[in-house]
Amino acid sequence: MKPMKICGYVLALCMALPLALTAFAADGASFSDVDAGASYARAVRWAADNGYVNGYSDGRFGVDEVVTRAQLSAIFHRAAGSPAASGELRFSDVAATAYYRSAAGWAADGGLINGYADGRFCVNDPVTRQQLAAILWCWAGSPAASGEDYADEADIAAYARTAVDWSRSNGILSGRADGRFAPADGATRAEVVSALYQYRRLPGGSELPEVPGSSDVSDSSRILVAYFSATNQTGNLANRLAGILHADLYEIIPAQPYTSADLNYTDSGCRANREQNDPAARPAIAGSAENLADYDTVFLGYPIWHGQAPRIICTFLESGDFAGKSIVPFCTSGSSGIGSSADHLQVLTPDAHWLEGRRFSGGASQGTVEEWVNSLKLAESGAAAEEETLEIQVNGTTIAARLAKNSSAQALAELLAEGPRTIEMRDYGGMEKVGPLGQTLPTNNERITTQAGDLALYQGNQLVIYYAANTWSLTRLGKIQGVTAQELRDILGGGDVSVTLSLR
Ligand SMILES: Cc1cc2nc3c(=O)[nH]c(=O)nc-3n(C[C@H](O)[C@H](O)[C@H](O)COP(=O)(O)O)c2cc1C
Repeated sequence: MKPMKICGYVLALCMALPLALTAFAADGASFSDVDAGASYARAVRWAADNGYVNGYSDGRFGVDEVVTRAQLSAIFHRAAGSPAASGELRFSDVAATAYYRSAAGWAADGGLINGYADGRFCVNDPVTRQQLAAILWCWAGSPAASGEDYADEADIAAYARTAVDWSRSNGILSGRADGRFAPADGATRAEVVSALYQYRRLPGGSELPEVPGSSDVSDSSRILVAYFSATNQTGNLANRLAGILHADLYEIIPAQPYTSADLNYTDSGCRANREQNDPAARPAIAGSAENLADYDTVFLGYPIWHGQAPRIICTFLESGDFAGKSIVPFCTSGSSGIGSSADHLQVLTPDAHWLEGRRFSGGASQGTVEEWVNSLKLAESGAAAEEETLEIQVNGTTIAARLAKNSSAQALAELLAEGPRTIEMRDYGGMEKVGPLGQTLPTNNERITTQAGDLALYQGNQLVIYYAANTWSLTRLGKIQGVTAQELRDILGGGDVSVTLSLR
């Protein structure tokens, strides 16, 4: 363990709270109040498996319960491997028999949690979020930090400002969805274990002892952030994202690293350009993503190279089994959007569920990334949560489609909830069937290069089923599943067609 520095701040006034921690060894069992899709689920599991914190005898973890100074010192003391503290009984309110006696001594020895001038430890005082940040920051050796301000930055106590900056830039404690840090709110048990789980990822923090095998716990909510980055723009973003998501990180490393000459795209013959110009190019990866099967959601990051993902991303997607996984693409670029890059990758993993991707600038702020993650609502629904699906009956065949996640697709689902709708469609341009929905839906137009199977809304009231590519300003409505482009062409036939849509 690294030596701990003394932090010269005094925690808040004592407020007596009943201490209600009933020991109940969970041994990795699930807790009734921990949703598998919750952002803190893995951290809770990790902390329980390692015996850092116990649940309650009624099967709950007590996710929303605010942690007291005694409880926090006990959790951190266990995580540190229960080192011996100086033997004296130095606090007037810490009984010789208290379970947290050594922990309080250890926390005070290291300056993590100081006692009060009147000789008390104030065992039952709640710990606030800014205190939690400050304690972990102390434990990390009080590193210099600076960062973006929270909306309520002015409410953060002076002693905790650097700690909160450090916490934000290292993804230790998440801010609130409204952009506040809420420094005076009590730190909940879920927040404490999440923060500790993140802390352990930092250099030095990784020295926290773990019960062998506990980090291998297969957990349906596990998220992997996989990325390729040639000049570390995407790498920085991926690190940030992994911190926010409490996810594991995997770097796709080329077997043959890219030199700056390889990346010099002004030279038409440079390696990167040659690869991008060759659809069959599959640059080899050094090593492989182990335990891919453990993850149900993969955030996939890459730089934009000539409007597309580097070919090594194709190597990655083709080398693993992504069936049933949710894939969330993200990218960095000089200025281009994510464009059709994710659409071109999707065809490599027909059985994966791709979510809408996002492009960031290399210097995207923590707040921008957090905002995006919050907008995905992973905690509530899990990235793998099923979107509403459609049935499309056409020429005696039923095909399935998944609805896009936007207000237009939602409006279509609401329309179909009233009952199936038959649309007379005509063939247009050798690429699509188009017909009136009989209703105007909200539009979310963007310039799209379509692929076979795309469902789109044209001019707000026309449904389009694409069986070939077209670039136009359209609103995505969904994607047909489980049929190839040729099968779709065959099903749709060459001329006019009557199509019935219904919710599954
Ligand atoms: C071969 C090559 C092609 C690129 N093409 C584009 C492009 O089409 N549009 C763009 O905005 N940026 C382009 N860029 C810039 C990168 O997308 C940008 O610098 C990115 O953030 C680099 O990410 P990285 O550091 O993770 O590799 C290109 C860079 C390279 C090396």
